[in-house]
Amino acid sequence: MTDWSAPDRRAELWGRREQYETEGLEVTDVDIDPVVQWNRWHQEALDGGVAEPNAMTVATIGADGVPDARIVLVREADADGLVFYTNYGSVKSRQLDEAPVAAAVFSWLDLHRQVRLRARVERVSAAESDAYFASRPRGSQLGAWASPQSEEIADRAELEALVIASDEEFADRDVPRPAHWGGWRLVPFEWEFWQGRPSRLHDRLRYRRDDADGTWQVVRLAP
Ligand SMILES: Cc1cc2nc3c(=O)[nH]c(=O)nc-3n(C[C@H](O)[C@H](O)[C@H](O)COP(=O)(O)O)c2cc1C
Repeated sequence: MTDWSAPDRRAELWGRREQYETEGLEVTDVDIDPVVQWNRWHQEALDGGVAEPNAMTVATIGADGVPDARIVLVREADADGLVFYTNYGSVKSRQLDEAPVAAAVFSWLDLHRQVRLRARVERVSAAESDAYFASRPRGSQLGAWASPQSEEIADRAELEALVIASDEEFADRDVPRPAHWGGWRLVPFEWEFWQGRPSRLHDRLRYRRDDADGTWQVVRLAP
């Protein structure tokens, strides 16, 4: 059996040290609007071949007060905020109903970049969820009906039987959006753009929204 505390294993964890030799990030380099800056970096992540550039880790507050986090895919990012889609009965949705705030992280590691944000959260309109649901492949649409996300299930066979039942229910017709499935919008009030630099002297720029006039203040943080 592998001994995960063995010295060679420790050497592997301690010795892993990537040098970040990227160009620097100055306050004068970034857009005054953080979502414009996010879109710029997202495009560079796409162009750079980053795996799943839409993936963001979203942290919510559990009923026990402990943070809970998981990856979801961003489907919209504009002046209104960042939207992801999920099951409204899932653990994350119940947590967001209870405490409609979240933190999120994008890890574009191939570009030595991280983007963090903190946000208030709201459901998107039914019309927006309908439009996005209609764009999904039929298999994903059936999955939204079939999977009681975050609930315990006995085995894989139970899930597959639920998918078959949904497939039969909607045979020969379009799959409508289930009422229990839709979007959440993160409306950030704080962002941080992080760019890796040599010797761990990374660049960090933080945006905070001025609630009085909606403008953003950008400052540099120590790494
Ligand atoms: C790359 C990746 C993308 C994912 N995208 C989504 C998504 O967009 N929506 C979603 O509900 N779950 C997505 N998941 C699954 C979630 O991480 C999570 O397992 C699921 O939503 C249940 O979370 P919960 O029990 O905390 O509600 C994704 C997982 C990975 C690894």
